[in-house]
Amino acid sequence: MNSSIKIHIIGCLVLGLSCGVWGNSVSKTCGFPAIYNFGDSNSDTGAGSAAFTGVHPPNGESFFGSLSGRGCDGRLIIDFIAEELKLPYLSAYLNSLGSNYRHGANFAVGGASIRRGGYSPFHLGLQIDQFKQFKYRVNVLYNQLSGNRTEQPFRSGLPRPGEFSRALYTFDTGQNDLYFGFNHTSDEQVRSSIPDIVDGFYQALQELYNEGARIFWIHNTGPIGCLPYSIIYYKSKQGNLTNLDANGCVKSQNEIAQEFNRQLKKQVFELKRNLPLAKLTYVDVYSVKYQLISGAKKQGFLSPMLFCCGSYYGYYVFCGTKVKVNGTVYGNPCKNPSQHVSWDGIHYSQAANLWIAKRILSGSFSDPPVPIGNACF
Ligand SMILES: *[C@@H]1O[C@H](CO)[C@@H](O)[C@H](O)[C@H]1NC(C)=O
Ligand SMILES: *[C@@H]1O[C@H](CO)[C@@H](O)[C@H](O)[C@H]1NC(C)=O
Ligand SMILES: *[C@@H]1O[C@H](CO)[C@@H](O)[C@H](O)[C@H]1NC(C)=O
Ligand SMILES: *[C@@H]1O[C@H](CO)[C@@H](O)[C@H](O)[C@H]1NC(C)=O
Repeated sequence: MNSSIKIHIIGCLVLGLSCGVWGNSVSKTCGFPAIYNFGDSNSDTGAGSAAFTGVHPPNGESFFGSLSGRGCDGRLIIDFIAEELKLPYLSAYLNSLGSNYRHGANFAVGGASIRRGGYSPFHLGLQIDQFKQFKYRVNVLYNQLSGNRTEQPFRSGLPRPGEFSRALYTFDTGQNDLYFGFNHTSDEQVRSSIPDIVDGFYQALQELYNEGARIFWIHNTGPIGCLPYSIIYYKSKQGNLTNLDANGCVKSQNEIAQEFNRQLKKQVFELKRNLPLAKLTYVDVYSVKYQLISGAKKQGFLSPMLFCCGSYYGYYVFCGTKVKVNGTVYGNPCKNPSQHVSWDGIHYSQAANLWIAKRILSGSFSDPPVPIGNACF
């Protein structure tokens, strides 16, 4: 054991920090008291269901046993993040039933984009406004309530005001900006809109920083051209099969997603330069998802082009609905969701989310390459 490690361990003992020794390296964890998450359906834990029409069964069947507001058979990556940090699953800010915000809140809403004017009104700027209001009201309420026996139960669902600056702020967003673009404009127009989209991200993060947020964990966007939904609509509209890669993904859409990620990463480094007290981790979720899709069969999954819930017969049948055409029923869910990479053609299955989470939480796809529990250092 070298002397710096000895000193470190003594520091841990003396200061009472939570430290562990693994092999030759010494590690402490940040002990995040809370998570505040922003984004779209990839990390929505109930907001879309609370604000609009709820998701239908069999969503939730593999884990929650009932509807949990997630577009998935079970847990999302954000749920595995909460587990990793030993925090409860995040309640959606918009969900008024059964919510608890003691350890954070989730502002992500299915369909949301960074820029306004996409599929959902809850664009990233609005999510940040909601966070500001949340924080303001928590501060007022917490101080109004005395914490005596009668009032303690009302306080117990609130975060401690002092904990906002020690919380982890997580993002998984951008996919709907791109998809809305593919759906309504040309690929070239989507490409040229990227600087404006990543500017929106920069501003949102800067605003959180101004509110006292310090530690940020930022997912880049996934290979959108590999979503079965993207592929189905691409094939039915363009019929240009030379634009599919070896895995059957839409090459041009993935190239634009990668360009988005390059510019997002540049903005993250720009933010690092300009926000001296911030700790920012950029996480290459794209590469992990693409690895899973390219190696699906080796990893024990069925073809990544298949999906479990919902169907397609010339039209997309949404998960939880069924359509009978010419005597054939479309939309019967599969028996084993855990064999599928894609749950419903748009969202990954719980099994896929777990596969992805295992790889990103360790830090091996992050810049800097630190595990999520150490993202504050
Ligand atoms: C608790 O505090 C509130 C307001 O400060 C007060 O009205 C109430 O009587 C207190 N209750 C008890 C049981 O002390
Ligand atoms: C947008 O997507 C919908 C299906 O979600 C499709 O019906 C429509 O044709 C698409 N529009 C364009 C311009 O791609
Ligand atoms: C089909 O896609 C390929 C690869 O992106 C492109 O080079 C080619 O011009 C496209 N052809 C048509 C007819 O759109
Ligand atoms: C249903 O039958 C009609 C008439 O034979 C045919 O045009 C159509 O493609 C069929 N649809 C499906 C989904 O098989």
